[in-house]
Amino acid sequence: MRRRRYNRAAIIRLGNLAIMAVERTLSIIKPDATRRNLTGKINARFEDRGIRIVAQKRVRLSRAQAEDFYAVHRERPFFADLVKFMISGPVVIQVLEGDNAVALNREIMGATNPANAAPGTIRKDFAVSIEANSVHGSDSAETARNEIAFFFAGSEICP
Ligand code: CMP
Repeated sequence: MRRRRYNRAAIIRLGNLAIMAVERTLSIIKPDATRRNLTGKINARFEDRGIRIVAQKRVRLSRAQAEDFYAVHRERPFFADLVKFMISGPVVIQVLEGDNAVALNREIMGATNPANAAPGTIRKDFAVSIEANSVHGSDSAETARNEIAFFFAGSEICP
């Protein structure tokens, strides 16, 4: 059985009782996956692990949106190609909710580079390359709050 690593911040301790905190995280199903009609298969991976998709929209990102969203990578050599890829087709932007959702989603997605992703993960099973890696997921609870606010108004999230 695989061991799951939990984000300490997501676990509330009450004496001996450890209660998982419900978290939200941002997910993007990328153009390589929408192009191959994989949205349903990817969503099933989330729902089968107890995650709820509490907001979802299919959009074409503008260049400005993609550049802003990935601004943290602006100086990286792959930035221009990453932006070009993210605007090359529709994406499905989602808010995922569940116990320890940030870390759980990262476990479900697998490593950024599909060559390093564990068997049974989305990226191992569906990704084409490190760039066309099918999904994005927030890397921490704080990033998740910022990334969710980047794309969704509170009124668009329906738990
Ligand atoms: P994502 O989780 O969306 O965050 C940044 C993205 O940059 C990453 O997934 C990859 O798809 C993409 N990327 C392209 N080349 C690289 C690289 N060499 N290292 C890391 N990320 C890369």
